[in-house]
Amino acid sequence: MRHDPHSYADDLQPRTRHLELDLRPDFEKHTLRAVTTLHLSEPGQGPFDLDTRGLAIETVDVPDGAPVRFELAREDPILGARLRVHLPEGTRAIRIRSTASRDATALQWLEPAQTAGKKRPFLYSQCQPIHARSLLPLQDTPAIRITYRARLHAPEGVRPLMAAARRGPGEFEMPEPIPPYLIAFAVGDLESRELSPRSAVWAEPSVVGDAAWEFAGIEAVIAAAEGLFGDYAWERFDVLVLPPSFPYGGMENPRLAFLTPSIVAGDRSLVNVVAHELAHAWTGNLVTNLSANDFWLNEGFTVYAERRILEALEGRDRSELHAAVGRQDLSNALRRFEARPELTRLRNDLAGIDPDEAYSTVPYEKGYLLLRHLEETVGRTRWDAFLRDYLDRFRFQSLATQDFLDFLEKRLPGVVERAGVLRYVDSPGIPHDAPVARAERLDRLLARAAKNEVPERADPTELLLYLNALRTPLRETCEEVEARYRIRARRSLELRTAFAVAQLRAGMPEGAEEARKIALGIGRMKFLRALYTELQARPATREKARKIFEEARGTYHPIAAQVIESILRG
Ligand code: BES
Ligand code: ZN
Repeated sequence: MRHDPHSYADDLQPRTRHLELDLRPDFEKHTLRAVTTLHLSEPGQGPFDLDTRGLAIETVDVPDGAPVRFELAREDPILGARLRVHLPEGTRAIRIRSTASRDATALQWLEPAQTAGKKRPFLYSQCQPIHARSLLPLQDTPAIRITYRARLHAPEGVRPLMAAARRGPGEFEMPEPIPPYLIAFAVGDLESRELSPRSAVWAEPSVVGDAAWEFAGIEAVIAAAEGLFGDYAWERFDVLVLPPSFPYGGMENPRLAFLTPSIVAGDRSLVNVVAHELAHAWTGNLVTNLSANDFWLNEGFTVYAERRILEALEGRDRSELHAAVGRQDLSNALRRFEARPELTRLRNDLAGIDPDEAYSTVPYEKGYLLLRHLEETVGRTRWDAFLRDYLDRFRFQSLATQDFLDFLEKRLPGVVERAGVLRYVDSPGIPHDAPVARAERLDRLLARAAKNEVPERADPTELLLYLNALRTPLRETCEEVEARYRIRARRSLELRTAFAVAQLRAGMPEGAEEARKIALGIGRMKFLRALYTELQARPATREKARKIFEEARGTYHPIAAQVIESILRG
């Protein structure tokens, strides 16, 4: 294991290889009791350091043996507290009893009123990047891999689910070794519908029907991905649709991807999110970044893979439109980081920086641009052969950016120099020769946006691109857009958010009201960040931003609330 700036795990000490977990959520107290048995890679002796955050440690012992001495250090605001266990000679496993506090950063506890069904409570976890340590003590770094067996207790009337193989009621096994940030579970009133022999959708009963319709084509997506990247390694690909407060579009939890309900748009227009989380089964979950410094290895590769899947399913023109929208998002992110350009490099040094704070679309879209640039430099045939080799060589391993560069140079000698790869990796901003997306109607849509003219027809992705491209929209343009496309009445929050932003830019009070409606109904950070940033940008709507946040805050995930607070601080 090499050094990870966001973990107390010590590379000179044994690694954890397998976990036995017994997890008992208390829906009244909002605490999680855990009995964690860590099985080590080799017999250990002396100090053994683990990550924790906000945990009460009750006992540490050798399973069915003597108590073991331990010290819990002071909490660091980013890393949490180091738990040092003093291993007696020859220790192969230790057992720790702990309780996670009611504000564990990995958990959101929802009251029945915050669910679709309004009858039962809901609980879910989100461990990436460094929140697993708020659930139980472990070496919380993607530099190690673990398998696990788990028991997840749940009260009558709600169903426990884990991102693992189901072995019995409340019993799970993760047979493939995973980085610890992929430990995940949910408890709620959940039902499933089969989508294919290896895929089902889980959701609350009132949502599961719509979700099954939206994702009916999932098997074709899996087949397309296998055609590009090789056999799917995780047996099943189930998806779980969470309540609206889920802070991400999706999370690639193994065997059970977590999804925001906002992609159940009623028009199957947002399958790219499913393609993205599925693609992580190769890029991210099989081949993993060593630490947050190399996050682009996960997300840049996954966006690249996502667009290749889309291209295979829907054609080049469609995937190019998505690439063009991605380029718009990247430009916005670069503006956001104007004062901190070092955060726009692909290879980072995030020691002392909270990875949730550094999170942006840069590793996604700039990483995508680099990989596409490499594809265009060497040609698709050679590039695809390289990708297969890469996935094979680093399968079930973690690697740093330098490992990627070394492997690239070995397999495609001279390409690092010829393609100017280090400009992407170590310099801020976007290199001048970065690939540009080309799609049939793209230039016309952008020209229309520049002149504040409304396109005669546009599908959801084209409309999104058009709305994003409106730099200085006018009231008349927005009114015409609404008259023609009826965006406010649509289910797609992707479109409604982009339209609310355009209206705010046009100085329309309707924009603020629409922003309020969206911000009260959804907790996905991508939308919240766009809306609150726009409200905060103009003195006229700043007070409104504060009011909306006050009203909505209780429904947000703690990580989302933190992000909005920092936007409102200016
Ligand atoms: N792994 C990410 C979500 C994530 C990243 C959670 C970092 C916590 C820390 C997931 O795969 C993702 O990228 N989701 C995107 C989907 C989009 C790119 C299609 C999202 O949530 O918007
Ligand atoms: Zn991702």
